[in-house]
Amino acid sequence: MWRPPQKIKWKPAPGEWPSREQALASRLFSPLRAGPFELATRTWVPAMVPWRGTDDGFVTQDNVDWYARFAAGRPGAIVVEATGIRDVPSGRLLRIGHDRFVPGLRRIADAVRQASGGETKLFIQLIDFLSIRRRTEPEKFLGRHLAITDRHRRALGLADAPDAEVRRALLALPEERLAEVLDARELEALRMGARERVTDLDLPHVRALPEVLPDLFAGAARRAREAGFDGVELHYAHAYTMASFLSALNTRTDGYGGSRENRLRLPLEVFERVRAEVGGDYAVGCRFLSEDCIDGGSTLDDSTVFGVAFARAGMDFLSLSRGGKFEDAKQPAIGAAAYPYTGPSGYECMPAHVSDERGPFGRNVEPSARIRAAIREAGMATPIVVTGGVHGFAQAEELLASDRADVVGFARASLADPDWFVKVRSGHGNQVATCIYANYCEALDERHEEVTCQLWDRVDLDEPGIRKSKDGKRRLTPAAWTGPK
Ligand SMILES: Cc1cc2nc3c(=O)[nH]c(=O)nc-3n(C[C@H](O)[C@H](O)[C@H](O)COP(=O)(O)O)c2cc1C
Repeated sequence: MWRPPQKIKWKPAPGEWPSREQALASRLFSPLRAGPFELATRTWVPAMVPWRGTDDGFVTQDNVDWYARFAAGRPGAIVVEATGIRDVPSGRLLRIGHDRFVPGLRRIADAVRQASGGETKLFIQLIDFLSIRRRTEPEKFLGRHLAITDRHRRALGLADAPDAEVRRALLALPEERLAEVLDARELEALRMGARERVTDLDLPHVRALPEVLPDLFAGAARRAREAGFDGVELHYAHAYTMASFLSALNTRTDGYGGSRENRLRLPLEVFERVRAEVGGDYAVGCRFLSEDCIDGGSTLDDSTVFGVAFARAGMDFLSLSRGGKFEDAKQPAIGAAAYPYTGPSGYECMPAHVSDERGPFGRNVEPSARIRAAIREAGMATPIVVTGGVHGFAQAEELLASDRADVVGFARASLADPDWFVKVRSGHGNQVATCIYANYCEALDERHEEVTCQLWDRVDLDEPGIRKSKDGKRRLTPAAWTGPK
């Protein structure tokens, strides 16, 4: 995890908790209706991958328990973790790229409905991503994977030499010389692991993305509807394919890169195809970045244009995140893949308690509010979900009261205490277990281990019937809240 150099330590400050009457009269716990997008309260659990799927992307009992546990806290909505839209192996990430995944996903939808008494709406985040390889030992990369070309031969003065000789010469080079002989992408592949980009137009499957993605997203959205979800969230954020199309770093020359209009083209085409598939009475929104937070990436000016375009196209909600990019990620260990939350842009996405003068709480508020204001000025009322470091009632209420958000996302705060919502609404906010923003959960996510929270995963480990992590040392869901104590 990257830390701002100032290393200022912040403590969560949830502030005063409301009485039951104050909570019931609040904006946060008031309903929102906007076409097919209806919430009983303006509280939102954003997508969080808990690494509980099977190796081939099916829902497990642990996934079902996880979402049922969040639903017991009765947030207005839960967004199910980033779920792959293709029918290809994707590790333990959930998948929705084939009808065989529908029954498992339906179990989540049923469990959430039951645990929340039908109150919590359920969305699913639909994701596409390009290939990223693990970093290998230099011996393997230079000795086997690297495609040897005449450029390498020329640089080494080994014209006509067989590949094996070129590989031996490369392996004998000191690091600085290697940086002269390899091109930037080869060096990146050596140091970070090879990573495809949307600009790799020489790769036929990358060139074909605009042809294949609309149907893939549409098929996934149809399955989400069949599985009983209340809507879909198109994942246009962070380090993944659709965010890379929106990014200012997208220089594709086929009409899908360069200008803002061109970068928006595929995201809008995907949305139109999804809308045509699921119809106007089904909630379709997207998550996108208020800022890329990397050199040369999209800025708030870009995102404001994107937000207005998405709203104008008829998206039912827009959820804003920030950062989370590969471009500034830390070098992974050999055998691991780069993780897009390890650099400064990752910090902007999931800021931890060691921070700078601005602190980790609400860094996404002002940029999101500007995007919302631009959408309102353009005459549209599309609900805006704002997330990032929100953990107190007063903070959330103020965001709504000051017209900077319509719905408030609580990711790590709800992971620390999924009962945040029911406790605060019933006047028992003083019993909330407040997230300390140590990013214990994020470290587990980085290792693709079952995500839990340090505030609860060792509590009452001997409770009968609870499910535990593979090593048996952590419980997978927090104990139930049995009411006021
Ligand atoms: C363990 C973990 C997994 C996450 N997985 C996703 C994901 O699948 N999709 C997504 O858009 N964001 C994901 N996020 C980011 C959160 O949705 C959220 O934007 C971020 O944690 C900042 O909000 P917070 O300060 O309320 O935690 C994840 C965050 C965590 C901690």
